[in-house]
Parts: sequence; structure tokens; C-alpha cells
Amino acid sequence: METRFFGTTEEDIQQAAEIIKEGGLVAFPTETVYGLGADALNPEAVGKVYAAKGRPSDNPMIVHISSKNDLSHLTFEITDDIRKLMDAFWPGPLTMVVPAAPVVPRVTTGGLDTVAVRMPSDPVAAALITSSETPIAAPSANLSGRPSPTSARHVIDDLDGRIDAIIQGGDCQVGIESTVVDMTGAVPAVLRPGIITAERLSQALGKTVEIDPAMNVKTADFKPKSPGMKYKHYAPKAEMIIYKGDREKVYLAMSEEKLRRTGYGQKVEIIMYDDSEPEKAAREFFAKLRACDKAGVDVILAAAMREDGVGFAVMNRMFKSAGYNIVEV
Ligand code: TXA
Ligand code: MG
Repeated sequence: METRFFGTTEEDIQQAAEIIKEGGLVAFPTETVYGLGADALNPEAVGKVYAAKGRPSDNPMIVHISSKNDLSHLTFEITDDIRKLMDAFWPGPLTMVVPAAPVVPRVTTGGLDTVAVRMPSDPVAAALITSSETPIAAPSANLSGRPSPTSARHVIDDLDGRIDAIIQGGDCQVGIESTVVDMTGAVPAVLRPGIITAERLSQALGKTVEIDPAMNVKTADFKPKSPGMKYKHYAPKAEMIIYKGDREKVYLAMSEEKLRRTGYGQKVEIIMYDDSEPEKAAREFFAKLRACDKAGVDVILAAAMREDGVGFAVMNRMFKSAGYNIVEV
């Protein structure tokens, strides 16, 4: 398949929207990561997304809308809590899981009777959804299992020739995927951490928010409520090891390991972010993994960050990337 490349002019977005309307696949920028979009209400189009990504079909998609009103087409009952979070965080990097109206095809929800909905703040994403005149189902625009794409280049590397079009916008400002919160239970529950933290959700709601306990299990055999969280994710080609503990000790241990491995002729990269800048870590982490792959790095040694606030979301990705390969020092 010949992939078409678009910029971000009104005319470009209009043409890309035509492809969505005709049931095609278009990758587009959002504030979190690039998405691979299809008409969320067209089962055939959504089916093609799974194929292009090599994604298991029980892993549901996030449905993207460009106006708060559009939520009422996808679900029946908009509770006070849902409204509060919409008002506080939309448009933005928050996805809410709500009961699905019959109009949402089961292929979009991975067979579930709930649907994940998000209203992105990126103006190109919003314009594409509006011009397409339909909600857009979009997982991250990477091959399944690879680090999520935070630049147009990453999308091209993974999906050129496999999808109809790519809108080439700028680099993503957030850099990790949206927070996913399940609004269908008695207590809202964070199924995937993001830069909108549980504390902020809790503040906006004026009540407690749970975190899916599976998020705190640091081994590969856990059972998260969100289907997508169980798959091997974000993996670089390199072997990856996380060092956890006192910062100075961690730095020393990583330096020694680097020296040792370099001695065997391995190419070693160290990743270490400052605890005070988790947003920067979020923005750069996936791009860093891809850069290591391109440079032919054999081993990535990464220092764990403090797991509070946004650091919790960054460490969720880091642990998965490393396949829970953790050294305590
Ligand atoms: O920031 C993002 O959310 C990006 C951009 C493109 O918007 N999208 C994204 O989609 O990360 P994806 O498909 O890579 O991740 C969707 C996550 C998966 O973990 C999936 O299992 C979960 O959301 N999810 C979707 N629908 C769900 C549902 N009905 N119930 C529980 N989890 C759901
Ligand atoms: Mg993804």
C-alpha cells in the first residue's frame, strides 16, 4: 500500500478526513502520542487498525471526539462524576471508560460493553475529528509491542506502507499515553496512569479514586482490568535493566555495569532523569528508546524515578519496557 503524507493545513486535514470517511486509516498527532485513526462507527475500518498494528483483537480502542456533546452519542447516561471530569480535563489527556451505546461496534470495544472515550486538545487532532464528522477510534500509531510514537518519524518507521495516510505534525508534548479512568464502577478507578494523576482526579471529584491494584505489581504476571495493559509493551530491541535505590548507589552501579559490558564489546546507554522533572521524562522516554534502537544499543541501563505524581506514570512505562527486569541496589 502506498501511504500518503499530509501536512497540517486545513486542506491537508480535509483530505485526510475524506480517507477516514471512506473507511481508511490515517495516523495523526495528539498531545500524548500519535494515534492511528479509523471511523469508530465503521467495524470494517476498525478491523483494519488491528491488522495494520498487528494488535490482538481483544484489546479495545480509545474513541476520540472533538466536542463534549459527542459523548452523549456514545453512551446513555452521563453521571455527575463524568461531567465533573469532562469539565476539569477535556480537552486533554484523560480517557474515560463508560457504558457503550449500541451504536459503538463491538470490534471497537474489543467485545466489551464499555467504551473508552477521550477528547484530545491537540488542534490537528480536533480538526481531523471535526472534519471527519464521526468519532475516531485510535490506538497509538506504533506496531504492537514497540514504544509509542511521539513524532511523525516514529510513525513512518513503523507504519509506512501499512496505512493510507500520515499527518505529519510536530512532536507530542506529553509523550506518554492518556490516563485511563474507569467510570463504570461505584468508585472511579485508574486503569492506566498518565500525566493527569489520581490525586488530580480525586481533587476534581471531591472523592477518592482507586488505582487498579495491578498497576503496583512489578512482575510480568499480573491481571489488569484494562485489556491492553497485559500485553508486552513499549519494548526496545535492546536488553533493558532498571536500577532502583539510592541515587548515588544507582549511578555507581550503572557506571560499573556499563564499564563491564563495554569491556565485552557491548554498546551501553544510560538513562537517568531528575526526580524533579517527571514531565520531561514522560516527554522524552519513548523517543529515547527508539533512538537507542536506531543507534544499535545492546543494553539500556535506566535509573528508576520516584513513583509519585507523574513519576508513577513514567515508571509504569519504564518497568514494562524492561520486562520488569529490575536490580535493587
Ligand atoms: O493517549 C492515548 O490514549 C493514545 C492517543 C492516540 O489518544 N491512545 C492510546 O490508545 O494509547 P491505545 O489503544 O494504545 O491504548 C488504549 C488503552 C488500552 O490499554 C486499552 O486496553 C484501554 O485503553 N481500553 C480501551 N477501551 C477500554 C475499555 N472499554 N475498558 C477498559 N480499558 C479500555
Ligand atoms: Mg498503545
